[in-house]
Amino acid sequence: MQIIDQQDLTGCNSFRLPARAARYARAETLDDVHHALAEARGLPLVPLGGGSNVLLRPYIDAFVLHLALPGRVLADEDSDAWYVRAEAGADWHEFVQWTLANNWPGLENLSLIPGTVGAAPIQNIGAYGLELESRLHSVETVHIASGEGCSFARADCRFAYRDSIFKREQAGRHVITAVTFRLPKAWQPALHYRELAQELELRGIGHPAPADVAAAVIAIRRRKLPDWRQIGNAGSFFKNPVVTAAYAAQLQHTHPGMPHYPQADGSAKLAAGWLIEQCGWKGRSLGRAGVYEKQALVLVNRGGADADDVLELAAHIAADVAARFGVELEREPVLI
Ligand code: EPU
Repeated sequence: MQIIDQQDLTGCNSFRLPARAARYARAETLDDVHHALAEARGLPLVPLGGGSNVLLRPYIDAFVLHLALPGRVLADEDSDAWYVRAEAGADWHEFVQWTLANNWPGLENLSLIPGTVGAAPIQNIGAYGLELESRLHSVETVHIASGEGCSFARADCRFAYRDSIFKREQAGRHVITAVTFRLPKAWQPALHYRELAQELELRGIGHPAPADVAAAVIAIRRRKLPDWRQIGNAGSFFKNPVVTAAYAAQLQHTHPGMPHYPQADGSAKLAAGWLIEQCGWKGRSLGRAGVYEKQALVLVNRGGADADDVLELAAHIAADVAARFGVELEREPVLI
C-alpha cells in the first residue's frame, strides 16, 4: 500500500469539492488498515468510503484512509435467514444487486444509493420505507487508538434516523472494515412508501418480486435525484426535521398542503424538501452552489464550488426555513 503526501481528493467525493489531504492511502486489505494506523505519525486518521455523504474542506490536515476492501460472501445461513457479509469498500448498489441475483432479498428498497457498504451504517442509510438498521446484523471495526478488532451487534450501534453511535459517542474512533446483514427468508415486500406503491401500480405489478421493487426504486431515484457523475452532490443535504405533533398540527393549520409523517413516539417528521421549496429555493443558485431543480433537498455543485460555497447556500436556506416555519434544519453530510 502506497502512502501519499498532499493527495488531491477532488475525484474522491461525489460533491466534487476541491480538497487535499496531508496524507492518504488506499486500504485493500485488513493488513493495509493496520499498516496505515502505524503510519499516521500523529495525524488524526479519517476514514473515507465512496465520499458520497461528505463535505470536504479544501485542506484536510489528517491521514485520510480510503477504505477499498472489496470482499462479499454468504457468511452463514440458518432456517430463518441468510447472513451476508461485505467488506467496507464494496460498492453499496453493486452489493445490493449481487444479493438479489443470488436470491437473498431484503435490501431491494435501498437500491442505487451511492457509496460503500462500510459507510452505510454510519448514517443508517434509508430510503423508500426501509432503513439499514432493520437488516443489519453486526459491524466489524478496527479501533483506531488501540488497533484492536471490535464487533458491534445491531443494538450496540444505537441506530436512529440517519444516525448511529459512529456519528456520536464513537465518532472518529473506529474504522469500519466489514458489515454483516441478516436477510430473513420469510420475505415480504416493504411497500408502505406511497411513491413506491404508486410506481408499482403504474407498472401493473400487483405482487412484486424483489427485483420488481428494486427496478421501481431505481426508476424513482433516476427521475428525482441527480447522478453525481454528472452533477456533484451528496444526496439529501438536510435531514427531515422532527417536531412535536402539536407543532406539526399548528403548521398544518396555516399550510394545509404540508406533508407530515407521524412517528411511533408521537412526534412528526416534516419534509425538508417541501419546506425549502416553499421558501422559493428550488432550482436557485447562490454563486457556484445551487438547489437541484427536481428535489429541493439536494444541493448541487454548479461547477467550481468549494465547501464554503455550499455551506453559505445551506445557511441561507436554513435561515429562511427557520424564519418562515420556525423549524431548524440539520445538515446530513459529514463535514471533514
Ligand atoms: N417535496 C417537495 N419538494 C421537493 C422535494 C420534496 O414538495 O423539492 C415533498 C414531496 O412531494 C413529498 C415529500 O416532500 O411529499 C417527501 O419527498 P421525497 O419522497 O422525495 O423524500 P424526501 O423526504 O425528500 C427522503 C430521504 C431520501 C430518500 C427519500 C425516499 C432524508 C433526508 N432523505 O427524502 O434520502 O431517498 O426520502 O425514501 O431522509 C439521502 O439521504 O441522501 C436521500 C436521498
